[in-house]
Amino acid sequence: MEMNAKQLMETARALMADGKGLLAMDESDPTCNKRFEKLGIPQTLEARRAYRELIVTTPRLGESISGAILYDATIHQKTKDGVSLVEVLSKAGIIPSIKVDSGADALAGHPGEKITGGLDRLRERLAEYAKLGARFAKWRAVITIGEGLPTCACVHANAHALARYVALCQEAGIVPIVEPEVLMDGSHSLKRCCEVTEKIIRAMFHEFYDQRVMIEGIILKTNMILPGLKCPKQESVEEVADATVMCLMRVVPAAVPGIAFLSGGQSGELASARLNAMNVRFRSRLPWPLSFSFARAIQQPAMEIWRGDDGNIKAAQEALLHRANCNRAARRGEYSSAMEKPQI
Ligand code: G3H
Repeated sequence: MEMNAKQLMETARALMADGKGLLAMDESDPTCNKRFEKLGIPQTLEARRAYRELIVTTPRLGESISGAILYDATIHQKTKDGVSLVEVLSKAGIIPSIKVDSGADALAGHPGEKITGGLDRLRERLAEYAKLGARFAKWRAVITIGEGLPTCACVHANAHALARYVALCQEAGIVPIVEPEVLMDGSHSLKRCCEVTEKIIRAMFHEFYDQRVMIEGIILKTNMILPGLKCPKQESVEEVADATVMCLMRVVPAAVPGIAFLSGGQSGELASARLNAMNVRFRSRLPWPLSFSFARAIQQPAMEIWRGDDGNIKAAQEALLHRANCNRAARRGEYSSAMEKPQI
């Protein structure tokens, strides 16, 4: 670990540098297919490859994106001209990354709860991914809020798996993104989301300590503190920003090099506005940079424009770049809804 410490800290710093953020493009085949199906895009290997090519070849993407998270199939893929997608990203100054968990499955004995898998052969897989150019990785744990949920068993099992993943990544010189996602599904309040997020993050850092991981060599990817989608009370942008920062300040050590939010199904505009409000309202008091690691909140408009048609690539890339730029502005506290109006 000692040997890797410098490398881990440098990668983490590069991912958080210059007001840039992360682009999650690591949807599994079933998730990608579901999104394609809604838009009438063929659910084929070639369509998924072409879509990922569209993303990574977006001109000037590296001005707002420091790292991109790929899926196993994507890290092996090439553009139609035969250049590996990893190489395209690296040339654009974007650090390639890989999702290494194998998804969340039902937790035995705990109806409605999930445990993320992927520890088997992880040491060997990380070594292979490092050879392919991955310098950071991602593992997502899923926490559901409901009647009596989450259980302690679910929180602890996921926190433990995350810690084992982190230790293996750091051994391989790969920066682990640790992602505990408290889902927005349900009618719970913002306060309840805050309690549950606090609980999983606390449990996680406890496990990190036991597993001897280096806190300076991770990136935390977490949800914003939000009311459930079906909660009748939906707090304002400012209230969400305050609740999120207050919650994280209580549980995330100052040694963490950065926090990058997931979007979790929020619209692109709301995700940018909320991130912006956090940076405007707390900038001078934050011990860590607050950034983004969005999938849907960056990609959705682009996917809707593309719809599998080559003739739409340019417009789709412009939409992708626009959302990436809005989020870069939000990181600096310089985003405003005026950025969303068409420029005449
Ligand atoms: O693991 C989740 C993704 O990396 C982030 O996706 O921004 O669409 O929630 P999202």
